[in-house]
This record gives sequence, C-alpha cells and structure tokens, in this order.
Amino acid sequence: MKVVHTIQDLRTLLGEYRKQGNKIAFVPTMGFLHEGHMSLVDHAKAVSPIVVMSIFVNPTQFGPGEDFERYPRNLERDRQLAEERGVSVLFVPEVTEMYPDKPKTNISVSHITSRLCGASRPGHFDGVATVVSKLFHIVQPDFACFGQKDAQQVAVIEQMVQDLNFPVEIIPCPIIREEDGLALSSRNVYLNEEERKQAVVLSQALEQIDPKFLAENTPGEVIKKVTELIDSRPLANIDYVELLSYPSLEPIEQFEGVSAVIVALAVKFGNTRLIDNKIIKI
Ligand code: PAJ
Repeated sequence: MKVVHTIQDLRTLLGEYRKQGNKIAFVPTMGFLHEGHMSLVDHAKAVSPIVVMSIFVNPTQFGPGEDFERYPRNLERDRQLAEERGVSVLFVPEVTEMYPDKPKTNISVSHITSRLCGASRPGHFDGVATVVSKLFHIVQPDFACFGQKDAQQVAVIEQMVQDLNFPVEIIPCPIIREEDGLALSSRNVYLNEEERKQAVVLSQALEQIDPKFLAENTPGEVIKKVTELIDSRPLANIDYVELLSYPSLEPIEQFEGVSAVIVALAVKFGNTRLIDNKIIKI
C-alpha cells in the first residue's frame, strides 16, 4: 500500500495506474477506521483492482462548537487496517494541502439538504459536497463507495454527481452494526458505559419498522411510537425523528403512492450525537 500526502504525488501515481488500463474505486473517510469503513473497501475491491482511500478530517463540514478538534484520530492504526484490507493507495492530506487559502468557491446542494442533518447542522452539507467534489477532481475515480449510515449524504452526493456531470458511479453500501445493533461510528468511542448501553435504543426503534408496521400506522403514528421508545431512555436527547419519502427526502402525510420511505434519527447521548436510519420499500 502506498501512502501519499500531496495532491501532486497522488495525481502522478494514479496517472500511471490509469495508463495501464486500471479503473479506480474511491473510499473517502475521515479516518479512525472501523468495520463500516472497511466494508466500503470490500465493495470498492469488488468493482476495481485499484482502491484509493482518503483520510481527511474536513474542517469545513464541522460547525462552530462541533467536535472538529476532538474528532478521534489514529493514523498508524488506520494505516495498518487499510493495508490489511487491501487498500492500494492511502491519501492523507494536511488541511493546508486541501485548503492552502480560504476558498471562495462552494458547492451547495439545495432541497434535499433542507431537513434532517441539513437542518440541524447548518453548512454541514456544503462542507461535505465541496470536499467530496475536490476529492473527486483529485482522484478522478470511476467508482466511489458511500455508506447508507449517512443516507442524506449519499442523496446529496448522488444529486451533485448528476447535476455537475461527474464521471463517477456512486455505490451506496449497507449499514454495518455492532452485535447488539448499534451502527458503527467513529464517534461511538465518546460514549461512556451507560450511554453506550442506552444507545442501542436507536436500532431497536428502527427494527420494529417494516412494511407491516407501516401498513398499520400513519406516518404521524410511526414518528410518535419511535419518539416514545427513544424518550423512554433517560440519557437520550432527541435532535430529530423524521419519516420522509426516499430518495427525494420530502415529508409525507400518508403512505399511499409512495414507493420507499426513510425513518431517520439523530439523538444525543451526553455530548455525543448519533445518527441512524432505515429505508423501507413499501
Ligand atoms: P466518515 O464519517 O469517516 O465516513 C466515511 C464513510 O464511511 C461514509 O461513506 C460513511 O457513510 C461510511 N460509514 C460510516 N459508518 C458506517 C457504517 N456503520 N456502516 C456503513 N458505512 C459507514 O462521511 C464522512 O466520513 C465524510 O463526510 C466524508 C464523506 C469523508 C467527507 O468528508
């Protein structure tokens, strides 16, 4: 595995791979790797012999007072995990490499960012869309893998790729969970023992939702039942519980005429904000 820190070195290396006729699959991450990230590498390897992973904690997608400074980092461990899993090239730029000057250009995806994390984290998806767009220009991948754990992020990137004609195929990948159901996240390390125990309620709340449950409840009743279950855990502090059409991410009043919905949750345990979701085809 090659570890590259500069855009110039990465372009030179990937240019050579491309000249040899190789396709490139890309897995963008912020590091502190876990099995969720590693599963994306497996999906990437399945479509392309060359897998590029980036590790970059992108400051522009964190709001004021969020956890940019304390976001967990461990490059040596990440390097080892990436190598073991078969990553070909690890791209680890410094902030000054990605943002040598304060940028004056911003990618902003409208509509689908107006709810969920787009509403509770203003500017977050501008930061994500802009850095992913930069990374796509730097890596020029044929494929890019994103986890459905961040379902709104997938929708934003797919919209950006369509609107701006990026020649890349986005591969959405399923959510990887702990044995008890908690979705893997780099932020899970922030949880203390009691918070970790109670955080299982997120996946429990989503587990009950299937086409039968949706047939027996209105969208309002689904939200109420999920909210009540999460609220029954004393350390849970709900940011949002939403049920939207998928992939358009619009509120719905009834299920008739809707082919798929997403139930999306953001819940704080202490200072740790966790998200989870389930997409249900009706
Ligand atoms: P990060 O949170 O590190 O996540 C990197 C990728 O791993 C994302 O596509 C995310 O959806 C996926 N992922 C995280 N946890 C997962 C899980 N439990 N199961 C499956 N996939 C999971 O998302 C970002 O970084 C950043 O916003 C980024 C796209 C890199 C732009 O800065």
